[in-house]
Amino acid sequence: MIILGIETSCDETALCLLETHENEGDFEYKVLKNIIHSQIDLHKEYGGVYPSLAKREHIKNLPILFEKIKKDTGIDEEKIDIIAVTKGPGLEPALWTGITFGSELSKKYNIPLMLINHMEGHIVSTMVDTSEAHSDFRKIKKINTPALALLISGGHTELVKINSLGSYEILGSTKDDAVGEAFDKVARMLGLPYPGGPEIGKLAKIAREELKENTEVKNPIILPRPMINSKDLNFSFSGLKTAVLYTIKKLGDLSYENKKEISREFEDAVTDVLISKTKKALENDGYKTLIIGGGVIANEHIRNAFKNIASEFDIPLYLPAKGLTGDNALMIALVAMFFASRNEKKNSQDIKADGNLSLGN
Ligand code: KG4
Ligand code: ZN
Repeated sequence: MIILGIETSCDETALCLLETHENEGDFEYKVLKNIIHSQIDLHKEYGGVYPSLAKREHIKNLPILFEKIKKDTGIDEEKIDIIAVTKGPGLEPALWTGITFGSELSKKYNIPLMLINHMEGHIVSTMVDTSEAHSDFRKIKKINTPALALLISGGHTELVKINSLGSYEILGSTKDDAVGEAFDKVARMLGLPYPGGPEIGKLAKIAREELKENTEVKNPIILPRPMINSKDLNFSFSGLKTAVLYTIKKLGDLSYENKKEISREFEDAVTDVLISKTKKALENDGYKTLIIGGGVIANEHIRNAFKNIASEFDIPLYLPAKGLTGDNALMIALVAMFFASRNEKKNSQDIKADGNLSLGN
């Protein structure tokens, strides 16, 4: 079976061709080609994603990338068995471009269409070992359930109980900003380019290395850890962002030292909260797997902190492979493979974007 994955929920136009087959009851996959075309350079000057620009770029890029993926793999429309496209959550104008492109292809060539939840894609992206094309068939890493997933991206921060793939309960989520959004907003306050997450990560890393060499921090910056002691599993990051704003106002002109120190303390504050809530969730329900997905898990400090709690709780930890932390269409095609293996036609009757689509639906 050949699956075409399409992802346009934000500022990446992504296409993937996946070949799958059944082997002794298990579905195996081969990545034929995985294309991620980032629009970051265009959005940079606006300091964030500009939805109408994202829409225009997706409309321009989709046919070009589709021609490229066909040419590079030798696979044309006649050979595609399923088209899997992101339904949501994300920016609706951007989501619609992928859905329109996919459904037009679906109608023209009579190919079944599946509409996929982007966050489910981030979960499944932790079950494969590479984002690169390969020539052999591979098995998806199995997860033992119940599994706990922490999803941390530009639009989401949520703890999810996975009873089985396709059956989810949201245990807690952010009351205001998402973690990635907080990274991006704080970076902007520090005069760092969009997307700010990786920039803060770089500065924090330098600050951490200097600290190891025992350079004394003269006036340490201390930021709050919002909701760290609340009994529930919800998060809040807007107060942390405001605390950074007050710190910056108090400091006046920011030096490079200030920026490094704020980045390190901000990263520490976020990590403390994420770890504390995840630990709290792990204390219940006998979880057998811990999954962390979404763009923010590219952050080295946060990755390492989760490796530590996984060994503390003696639980297998699933993180996305290199190149699959951010948005991509491979994860969308893989979710479609799961549903196809169960003969489920995901949302094929409900061909519309849903910017707020939840895993709990
Ligand atoms: O999953 P993703 O690519 O898109 C959404 O679905 O939102 O996540 C993007 C977010 C952005 O906010 C970006 O700043 C953040 O992930 N991010 C990072 C890092 N790399 C990307 N945050 C912290 N450290 C990083 N290294
Ligand atoms: Zn995402």
